[in-house]
Amino acid sequence: MCGIVAYLGPKQAYPILINGLRRLEYRGYDSAGVALLNSKLNVYKTKGKVADLEEFVRDVDISGTIGIAHTRWATHGEPNYANAHPHFSQSKNIALIHNGIIENYAPLRKELETRGYKFESNTDTEVLTNLIEDIKINENVSLFEAVRIALNQVIGAYAIVVIDANDPNSLIAARKGSPLVIGIGKDDYFVASDATPIIEHTKNVVYLDEEEIALIKRDSDLKIKTIRNKEKTPYIQALEMNLSALEKGGFEHFMLKEIYEQPSSIRDSMRGRLHAEAGSVSLGGIIDYEQKMVNASRIIIVACGTSWHAGLVGEYLFEDIARIPVEVEYASEFRYRNPVIYESDVVIAISQSGETADTLAAIELAKSKGATILGICNVVGSSIARATHAGSYTHAGPEIGVASTKAFTAQVTLLTLMALRMAQLKGTLTKSRFIQLLHEMERIPEKVQKTLEVSKKVIEIAEQFKDVRNFLYLGRGYNFPVALEGALKLKEISYIHAEGYPAAEMKHGPIALIDEEMPVVFIATNKGTYDKVVSNIQEVKARKGKVIAIVTEGDVTVRGMADYVIEIPETEEMFVPLLATIPLQKLSYHIAVMRGCNVDQPRNLAKSVTVE
Ligand code: F6R
Repeated sequence: MCGIVAYLGPKQAYPILINGLRRLEYRGYDSAGVALLNSKLNVYKTKGKVADLEEFVRDVDISGTIGIAHTRWATHGEPNYANAHPHFSQSKNIALIHNGIIENYAPLRKELETRGYKFESNTDTEVLTNLIEDIKINENVSLFEAVRIALNQVIGAYAIVVIDANDPNSLIAARKGSPLVIGIGKDDYFVASDATPIIEHTKNVVYLDEEEIALIKRDSDLKIKTIRNKEKTPYIQALEMNLSALEKGGFEHFMLKEIYEQPSSIRDSMRGRLHAEAGSVSLGGIIDYEQKMVNASRIIIVACGTSWHAGLVGEYLFEDIARIPVEVEYASEFRYRNPVIYESDVVIAISQSGETADTLAAIELAKSKGATILGICNVVGSSIARATHAGSYTHAGPEIGVASTKAFTAQVTLLTLMALRMAQLKGTLTKSRFIQLLHEMERIPEKVQKTLEVSKKVIEIAEQFKDVRNFLYLGRGYNFPVALEGALKLKEISYIHAEGYPAAEMKHGPIALIDEEMPVVFIATNKGTYDKVVSNIQEVKARKGKVIAIVTEGDVTVRGMADYVIEIPETEEMFVPLLATIPLQKLSYHIAVMRGCNVDQPRNLAKSVTVE
């Protein structure tokens, strides 16, 4: 959603803040702003990206050793100057940045209006800023206390940082539902939505917990209370992230870099967990819950978007090799459907960011019914990682491109390991078959590497189809979720309409779309329902559709029918999604680049969706 960064210390704040905003821009990019305090509290903000803000402040006073900054993804009010953050209070004594949504902002605004407050924007954030000011004046309390009291009146989600024109030595930060990290330097403090703006300054961080509020004071220790006024001891952790993981490393876009990182990110997801020689799988994070999984009446997977597609692959895996029934749910539907949840259920929540509001709410609901909740997250210390009973991190490294690539394959890798572990414990595979699968899984990173080498063919196909208006993606079995993910990737970064379908469903409707203009991507690898998919390809060819097929190396049948083929290495059926996804990511990437789209920051999207 939005990105927050703040600084307090001996250095000039602006360069640190602007650099931090650049790192956070993947979270939202429709307006940006900064508040800097020297003798005066100055707020500069503009519609557009961080680069527009830099242009905007070219000729103004940007001095100050304390400041707050924000990059926005609009929720309340269109992206324009008035709605951009930071927001001033009416007196201009307080400025505030906010990520999240204040759900009861309308009655609060009405109440403040009756007390004489005038609003310059349509945002919920300006309401919160004036609420804090109103409490500070009328209750005659410190700013910290006013923020605390105000947050008790607020319904919704927030990560906020507040700055006071009359206090150049303090910042106040608080969170509920949206993430906030405080970096502790030698003699300075950093605050941010995630650790990426902090890592180059310090590795010591404190993750604020739900409903915690921090007083960050120059030359003083960090103080934390809950909004119910309970003192907390800050828990300082060391970041494990490297700065190089946040740079493009010679690639034109983060997305391309992240696509090419997959051999190593998949290897990192397996490291220390897959022991082919010893014939075992170990997942330390969920070890205490393995028996619960073995005895579970069913597994419910909750997730959104690409993570939901990974969950669908998980369904095939758990049912196929571990014989555990699985339901895969869109978190947003699950949470409002009054679902039947038993204490014997194990819920697996999958989320790259670990901050997705719907997934978080689905977890809370399942938890309240007594289910066991396991997490699969990429961002260490994220809200979902902490809300679950236990879990395993994907270890894919920071994913900056808004369209998920390496996080998806890392999620699938982890689900595969979990399913294999369950198969091992339940004895649903013979020992020799189990060991054969482990050895093959070990070879997946090198097969992904090989799959990445198909660039020329993919570029040729992209060139051919970059101007079409529609695409269809079809697959069956393990390749059905791959088709969905391929279609999602294309539409989100190239803005071409694309649909993913189970190949056999085509004849129940989508076949009407097929004409000589329509490219149809088939994932037609040589296992499972291969013969059936071959028939589906024939049905498309009979209607003059253009067939692009992902096939297994050496395939001749589909090669004889398709207009274009992309080969991937031979592997076991259950590992095919890890390979077949790669050319589809690359196809979307090249089409989007050829169409002049901003692949790393597609329009209207944001990396972490912390609102409903
Ligand atoms: C698509 C994409 C989104 C996310 C979805 C869930 O490329 O990235 O569909 O997968 O918003 O996000 P997480 O995994 O962070 O919960």
